[in-house]
Amino acid sequence: PAPASLPALLLDWYDRHHRRLPWRAPPGGRAEPYHVWLSEIMLQQTTVAAVGPYFTRFLDRWPNVTALADAPIEDVLAEWAGLGYYARARNLHKCATVVRDDYAGRFPETEEGLLALPGIGPYTAAAIAAIAFDIPATPVDGNFERVMARMHAVETPLPDAKPELKQLAAALTPEHRPGDYAQAVMDLGATICTPRKPKCLTCPWSAPCAGRIAGIAEELPKKKKK
Ligand code: ADE
Repeated sequence: PAPASLPALLLDWYDRHHRRLPWRAPPGGRAEPYHVWLSEIMLQQTTVAAVGPYFTRFLDRWPNVTALADAPIEDVLAEWAGLGYYARARNLHKCATVVRDDYAGRFPETEEGLLALPGIGPYTAAAIAAIAFDIPATPVDGNFERVMARMHAVETPLPDAKPELKQLAAALTPEHRPGDYAQAVMDLGATICTPRKPKCLTCPWSAPCAGRIAGIAEELPKKKKK
């Protein structure tokens, strides 16, 4: 038989080892755009563990984007208290009002449409497009960059390597299950391909990983000296 493709190896691992996070649908499913958007905004500069209870409380109180838009901004800021970076909460509420007023309460279903919304940058637009709409978009954050730098043994230091890593990441993104694939790379970066002491022995991408083969995985990505 033909060897499994890189995405297929990772998706098979994700089916068995995916993290069960409150905003996720099970593998093969599509999460609500509202849930994906809310979690991605909360996860900017805040850890997965810290976001969990906030995400659940927001959903209990405001079950959809229109309910959130209808809430007074003071209530949203009060519920946000502890997450930090209050500009995020203000942008969150602004975005909810735009989705309510200009998009009839439904998030646009393209990367470009999402990118036009307040508080949604290229990473977040790609994450929502992939995870909620199964569009082959690639949400490249620091974890994604590390995984790509190691897999392809990219020795160019950051930030210079960013365009190359983004290009490599996009080229590898599959047409089949792109949302699960994006979340699988996130989970791989968080649990296996960690910044220190990567667990190459249990990594589904160990065999083809050029960084591991060259013995330099843990040193990647390199960072430019300041
Ligand atoms: N970090 C950012 N987005 C995430 C997601 N959807 N799942 C897990 N970790 C993340």
